[in-house]
Amino acid sequence: MGEGKSLSKAILFGEHFVVHGTHAIGAALSKEIRVRISKSDKLSINIQTGQIVLDASRKILDSMDLRGNYSIEVDAEIPSSAGLGWSAAYSVALARAAANEKGITLTPEQASQYAYVGEKVFHGNPSGFDNALCALGGALMFKRGEKPISVKIGAPLHLVVAYVPRTSVTRDLVAGVSRIKEEKPEFFSLLMKKEEALVMNAKDALAKGDIPLLGKLMDENQEYLRQVGVSNPALEEIISLAKKGGAMGAKLTGAGGGGCAIALARSKNDTKTIMHAIGTKYLVFEAQIG
Ligand code: PMV
Repeated sequence: MGEGKSLSKAILFGEHFVVHGTHAIGAALSKEIRVRISKSDKLSINIQTGQIVLDASRKILDSMDLRGNYSIEVDAEIPSSAGLGWSAAYSVALARAAANEKGITLTPEQASQYAYVGEKVFHGNPSGFDNALCALGGALMFKRGEKPISVKIGAPLHLVVAYVPRTSVTRDLVAGVSRIKEEKPEFFSLLMKKEEALVMNAKDALAKGDIPLLGKLMDENQEYLRQVGVSNPALEEIISLAKKGGAMGAKLTGAGGGGCAIALARSKNDTKTIMHAIGTKYLVFEAQIG
């Protein structure tokens, strides 16, 4: 038997654009996914899920030289397809469970690398940021193909996270953005430049703990995400309710098309007002970064 767990994540700035080469900033969230594997006569999983999870699991186990069949038990504190990195966190937890079964311990970097094998099955063309955040923890700045670096958080971020079920899957949302890149290269390249500048400003604002500026940058980032077609009416409603409730800024997090939006509160006290403003139509919880 082998056991492993992983943190989940929220991307604060740069999702989608990071797939095409900008920097992005995100942080691990304390909500976990835990995986337990035990030898069995066929590869199976205890949750209702598509074949893709079994395919990704097989790839991860094979890459770790664990050839036999396993029954996989998953216990997740986050919903899947929510933008909180279910697939990456599952892949990290499974890699750690497989290592545990083999009697070895993975470094965070190794856990991230094995999880990336799973992410490729789930998403086709993942940037690698989600698995890095889930495996390494903390707040990170990431650029595809480079080693993630730790980001300084000058003042804690009090976030309200609101969830609405997704109408599209990450793979299709990522492919949709790639189509825009192909069809409108000049438009996309301008957005990439703007996004890169925004992420650099956000890094400085995070270090200084400049909450009003971070809110403004979140709003701006949401505008770029709208322009590549990954927002949707439910996310827009959450964002507008959060802003009416006093959020300094709000945006979708992760792939979009539904899933989660994050709203930045001025202080911990303000999170309650924002949650109240979003109301009961959506699943809402608080998260603190830093
Ligand atoms: O929605 P999630 O948790 O699968 O996050 C996807 C993040 C993207 O930037 C859209 C894709 C990627 O590989 O970085």
